[in-house]
Amino acid sequence: MKNLANKKILLGVCGGIAAYKSADLVRRLKDYGADVQVVMTTHAAEFVSPLTFQAVSGHPVRTQLFDHAAEAAMGHMELARWADLILIAPASANTLARLSHGLADDLLSTLCLATTAPVVVAPAMNQAMWAHAATQANVDRLRTHGVDILGPAEGDQACGETGAGRMLEPLQIRDAVVALMASTPEHASLAGTPVLITAGPTREAIDPVRYISNHSSGKMGFAIADAARCAGAKVTLVAGPTRLEAPAGVDLIAVESAQEMHAAVMQRATEAQIFIAVAAVADYRIKDSGDRKLKKDADTLTLDFIKNPDILADVAALAEAQRPYCVGFAAETHDLESYAQSKLTRKNLDMIAANRVGRADAPVFNSDSNSLHVFIRDADPVQLPLAPKAQIARDLIALIAQHRQPT
Ligand code: PMT
Repeated sequence: MKNLANKKILLGVCGGIAAYKSADLVRRLKDYGADVQVVMTTHAAEFVSPLTFQAVSGHPVRTQLFDHAAEAAMGHMELARWADLILIAPASANTLARLSHGLADDLLSTLCLATTAPVVVAPAMNQAMWAHAATQANVDRLRTHGVDILGPAEGDQACGETGAGRMLEPLQIRDAVVALMASTPEHASLAGTPVLITAGPTREAIDPVRYISNHSSGKMGFAIADAARCAGAKVTLVAGPTRLEAPAGVDLIAVESAQEMHAAVMQRATEAQIFIAVAAVADYRIKDSGDRKLKKDADTLTLDFIKNPDILADVAALAEAQRPYCVGFAAETHDLESYAQSKLTRKNLDMIAANRVGRADAPVFNSDSNSLHVFIRDADPVQLPLAPKAQIARDLIALIAQHRQPT
């Protein structure tokens, strides 16, 4: 497979123990046909010798901004123009901070400022450094500058601690790069496609001051909205109450209850070519929520519930000419496969992504990572192993783009 054939990738390597994995990353990118040049920070050269990267990339490695010999051959501006993509892996906290403030005090930061190519970073650092408010603010700022952040993953760290901060594995980074390159305007898999997505929980009023809801944070749905937008889609996101900001370029419609979500979706469904139902919609609402606060006079309280409309089933039941390609989610604690398969058939879906919820070690709700078992009508199921939700979202969008029949 040559998914990166003729792509010119400039790999920036920062100081950190994960730098040893970057040599393998070069190999993985080259396996897919990419031409890779490596720029190292001075700290990176303390961890891995530039000679290693020269051997695996087949190009001289640059470490200094002012390198007279190199400027005579490929100067730093030429290098910035050469790259189709700048990938920094590992990206240290220091480099993220410098990039987020637009500093240009070494070769790598100068290239990032000078290039018009997309910049992608795969952070790697101690979990406390990653969690620090300063790093998170820098990452948020980089996102607003259009930088893609891959990972980090959670797990054991070289420093002996456990948490988020591990660099993604070279294969995961390579796959993310493939997905990103495929989503550049000239390759966008969903270019101009109207996509409607639901996300987050719904709130069902008990009375004017209380409600029933669930643990959905909206992270999965918002990540899918962002991935669809990156793939060129025109995205409308109908979301229940969350703390998240709408991804740039996505049209956000905020709703509260299942009935409001149903109305907002049905109003737009016939214009969409793809509908992805990620929301955790309340199946029932209180029969008489009323406009008066319930009083705590009695020792027990009984509430009557009535069924909410099934948004996904209603969209999937639209007449063929109006019906978008329908993708559902299934959140199950048990019998994941059989429940997901039965929902695929019962709700007349094209695809369903099943995730196991309720496990203490992999919570899904409000977590930054997830894994999916995807069942596709008339095709073999696909497993998306545990990865950050942004990565899972990109993989799911790639699957949808591959399987739907454009109208
Ligand atoms: O938001 P996060 O914290 O990131 O968590 C992500 C998630 C767990 C919410 C998400 O990955 C997920 O699984 N969403 C679907 C949850 C769910 O309600 O599953 P379900 O099995 O109850 O519903 C099946 C499908 O029907 C879903 O696509 C749901 O959106 C849809 N549905 C359900 C009921 C209803 N009244 N209308 C619907 O459209």
